[in-house]
Amino acid sequence: MNDTIPQLAAFDEPSLDAAFATLAEEVCQTSATLNDVEAFRLQWLGRKQGRLKLVSDAWLKSAPAEARKPLGIRFNQLKQQIEAALEAPAVAAGPKAAAIDFTLPGTTHTPGIQHPLLKTMHEIVAVFHQLGYSTNLGPQVESDFYNFEALNFPPNHPARDTQDTLVIAEQQSRPSRDRLLMRTHTSPVQIRSMIAQEPPLRLVIPGKVHRNDAADATHSPIFHQVEGLCVDTNITFSDLKGTLDHAMKALFGASVKTRFFPSFFPFTEPSADVQISCIFCSGKGCRKCKHSGWIELLGCGMVDPAVFAAVDERRVELGKQPAYQADRITGFAFGMGVERIAMIQHGISDIGHFYSGDMRFLEQFA
Ligand code: PHE
Repeated sequence: MNDTIPQLAAFDEPSLDAAFATLAEEVCQTSATLNDVEAFRLQWLGRKQGRLKLVSDAWLKSAPAEARKPLGIRFNQLKQQIEAALEAPAVAAGPKAAAIDFTLPGTTHTPGIQHPLLKTMHEIVAVFHQLGYSTNLGPQVESDFYNFEALNFPPNHPARDTQDTLVIAEQQSRPSRDRLLMRTHTSPVQIRSMIAQEPPLRLVIPGKVHRNDAADATHSPIFHQVEGLCVDTNITFSDLKGTLDHAMKALFGASVKTRFFPSFFPFTEPSADVQISCIFCSGKGCRKCKHSGWIELLGCGMVDPAVFAAVDERRVELGKQPAYQADRITGFAFGMGVERIAMIQHGISDIGHFYSGDMRFLEQFA
């Protein structure tokens, strides 16, 4: 950059254009970055030594009368360019400004994704929403009454041993049905729902459950279940089979087969374990299905009349009409583990991956 302003040799328009273009170029080169706005201002607009003042002294004052106007117009344009550069430093300076390095990689935005467990849970719930079910939720800290007693697990019944329960401390002084514990399954929400609502009911109940299990590749003391409950007049075991067969096909593909194995739960009678044909070997037998061709996936059964009786007893205690007479009302229930289903869907071999927060694992579901 020239410190001094050269005298103008001629005052015709092309000469003026050329002279001002040189100055405009200088403005660009010295243009303000965010850090040196004040230095830039002084350099160009300073009252005594600012270059604009020097231009004015050197060119405007000595100009012949007829050149004043074209000179003035160009002078004002230059001034506007300088002021614009001051208002929006790097931007007004254009691509030549040092403030913007166009070779830098752009900012990447990585939007969050649903956790794979929640994704599977929502998928399961959506299958039942499409069948007209609605969602109910219940508390994780539950009383003995809802978690066990109303579900036909009497106190000290050996079936309680299958659900290693985490109990809340300091509950001994309470009646046994009021003692608090961490719910071991989502089934207590069946009871809460039936006490609150009259039939017909079609409900899915997703949620967290807790058991005093040691963590290993397939167990975690906290895990997730989706429960289902359908209660109405004339609900039969074939409704249960059709509903779950449809749900398994919706989750694992239309070619999946289901079979129902006799089982036991205190709150359903008859009870069954549902198995699907192994999705890894299509039923031929492999390591994943322990060479049986089948994978066990969930528990289910027809609601035990003792459960309806416990519900109605409680409804009456609360001043409500009984509504679950077992000669008129029937229903089915089922419960499935979300972790187990997600592990089979994605071929995950260790349940711990879901809780580790390891981005290398989680990013695979983006
Ligand atoms: N609550 C049972 C469990 O956690 C599963 C189940 C739900 C079985 C509903 C039958 C009906 O093992």
